[in-house]
Amino acid sequence: MLLAENLTRLRKQHRMTQEQLAVQVGVTFQAVSKWETGQTLPDIALLPVLAGIFEVSIDALLGYLTSQNKISEYESRYREQEYYWGTAPSEMCYEVMKLKPPVRSWTLLDIGCGEGKDAVFFARNGYVVSAFDIADEGLHKAKQLAAASNVKINFFKANLLDYRLQSDFDIIFSSGVFHYIKPELRDELLKNYRDHTKNEGICALNVFVQKPFIAPPPDGEPSDTVWRSGELCGYFSDWYFHRSEQVVFDCNSSGIPHQHCMDVLIARKLG
Ligand SMILES: C[S@@+](CC[C@H](N)C(=O)[O-])C[C@H]1O[C@@H](n2cnc3c(N)ncnc32)[C@H](O)[C@@H]1O
Repeated sequence: MLLAENLTRLRKQHRMTQEQLAVQVGVTFQAVSKWETGQTLPDIALLPVLAGIFEVSIDALLGYLTSQNKISEYESRYREQEYYWGTAPSEMCYEVMKLKPPVRSWTLLDIGCGEGKDAVFFARNGYVVSAFDIADEGLHKAKQLAAASNVKINFFKANLLDYRLQSDFDIIFSSGVFHYIKPELRDELLKNYRDHTKNEGICALNVFVQKPFIAPPPDGEPSDTVWRSGELCGYFSDWYFHRSEQVVFDCNSSGIPHQHCMDVLIARKLG
């Protein structure tokens, strides 16, 4: 039944009729109707085709979530709220813009783009943007935001834990995401990001860090992995630091007032 529900939801999200989906898949619309009511199942050979049309993994299509995929409890937040993080860009976007003003079509990658507020901001300002996230619902809303702003962005689904960059970017940007990077993966991932930043390019990153004087957040996610304060900067010690700062801020998520501490780094790779 999960597959039936997912098919109906994804088809509607993509604003397709059963007939349109049937044509794309090469079956009758009665077949699609039977899948959606759970009377029959699509042939196994059609699963990659359906997953491709809806831009989700076959696991997601089947409603199968491994414990690792549960990491994205954002799926449900993104489903419930209009724009969970709002549509205004993060403060770090303006700093990036000042340092690398869009006098050329700089290429930018947004890692863990969520619902796309920052990616869309950059694209609206002339950057050539690619952006990925693990959450289908976030990506769906990000695409809608881009369409409403009349900009093109290369959005794709990827898990930052197993995705490695193959091409170079002028700017690598990520906000509120790096706490998902497990300690044992940090050396390799950060090297991959460094190696794929062009000369004179910048990395603009932040990460939640633990401080002894700040209590652990009441709603910390199970997949949170602790970063040491200063750890992020260490990976870029031979780059030029435009900003390296620690920010403590109040938060009221889950209705319990608490504080977070974040290390913010904006560094330039000098050739
Ligand atoms: C705090 S939100 C930040 C979203 C966005 N950067 C922003 O500032 O609006 C964290 C994001 O990380 C994504 N995320 C979590 N684990 C991930 C993973 N393993 N790979 C890719 N994205 C992931 C979540 O789906 C979520 O959209």
